[in-house]
Amino acid sequence: MAKILPVDEQTIFLCADELKKGNLVAFPTETVYGLGANALNSFAVEKIFEAKKRPKSDPLIVHVSKIEDAYNLIDATPFQKTCFEILGKKFWPGPLTIIVKCSNQVPKNVTANSHYVGIRIPNHPVALELLEKCGFPVAAPSANLFGHTSPTTAEHVATDLGYYQDLIILQTDVPCHVGIESTIIKIDENNEITLLRPGAISSIEISEHIKFNVKHKKRELTEKNMGELESSGQLLTHYAPSLESFILGNLNKGYVKEINFLSQCVLIDFNSIHKDMKKIVTAYFDLSSLGSFAEASYNLFAILRNAEAVNGAKYILLPDFSNFNDELAIAVFDRVYRAASGKYISLNQFSF
Ligand code: TXA
Ligand code: MG
Repeated sequence: MAKILPVDEQTIFLCADELKKGNLVAFPTETVYGLGANALNSFAVEKIFEAKKRPKSDPLIVHVSKIEDAYNLIDATPFQKTCFEILGKKFWPGPLTIIVKCSNQVPKNVTANSHYVGIRIPNHPVALELLEKCGFPVAAPSANLFGHTSPTTAEHVATDLGYYQDLIILQTDVPCHVGIESTIIKIDENNEITLLRPGAISSIEISEHIKFNVKHKKRELTEKNMGELESSGQLLTHYAPSLESFILGNLNKGYVKEINFLSQCVLIDFNSIHKDMKKIVTAYFDLSSLGSFAEASYNLFAILRNAEAVNGAKYILLPDFSNFNDELAIAVFDRVYRAASGKYISLNQFSF
């Protein structure tokens, strides 16, 4: 069984030592919890795939505590390195992952043999202290079982990975304040910059800072295998709770016919829009009763996990904010969309 240890100076030392020995440590970042292993030790990295039950074709992000520690992990042209530096110096520590050509220092299982490595400096005091104590780069995907909702507390990690031997989960009062995973951009061989996963740092901010247009990938509307995609965050089904989930599309007030269905649903609202349905659903949560996307981002994964644990519930209904242009709204809705595998439900048309 994994061990949950509260953070203090001694446990940070212990965890750095465990990582050095090739064991796993789950640690908080400002986005979500990461499942860490020494990125330069391919045997340790192998344990991440095993614990998460993650396909080996899915590369891992490498975390460092300062940009200088990333230089011998990358093999970029001067232009690419300049882009990497300009963006790293502006947005790190912070929720941005930059993917660039990797050097031969990085084990192949970290990059899934893609010749590209994703690098990030997280903005969380515990993560930074741990990385500093380690002195080596730490590979860390989100510390959940593959495809499940990402974790934002030590308890979430224990729910998914508590079964794993030789794992320490660091517990802290300092929250994962962003709540959704980092923005991912890739600097490719044609010197183009593409957004692979939206997050709290917007592509507009990135473009404005680098004076360079960031390309967007269109969302996949059909299920694809990992091998066909550049990143698992592009899978149609991802971040998914264990109950069947739908995005609540059209809703007419005459939903009496659906009362039976609604009594089996957990309703996750946004901006209190459907608060009058509280009485007819089995449980009701609001991502942000005042309509703040930052609050929705912070709450999303914990609420998804609470929703799937509601006794007797069969379905989850999720809010539709696909028509907001705000990039944080887009990033949060990206997770909502994949949690529901892109399925919408219109209650006025739904019948049993
Ligand atoms: O906020 C975050 O990014 C968190 C914290 C722990 O840092 N990490 C995280 O890792 O979300 P993960 O593995 O759950 O998601 C990383 C995504 C995956 O979809 C993976 O496919 C993609 O990044 N990725 C990583 N390295 C890549 C590479 N070299 N090329 C393309 N995609 C990559
Ligand atoms: Mg993940």
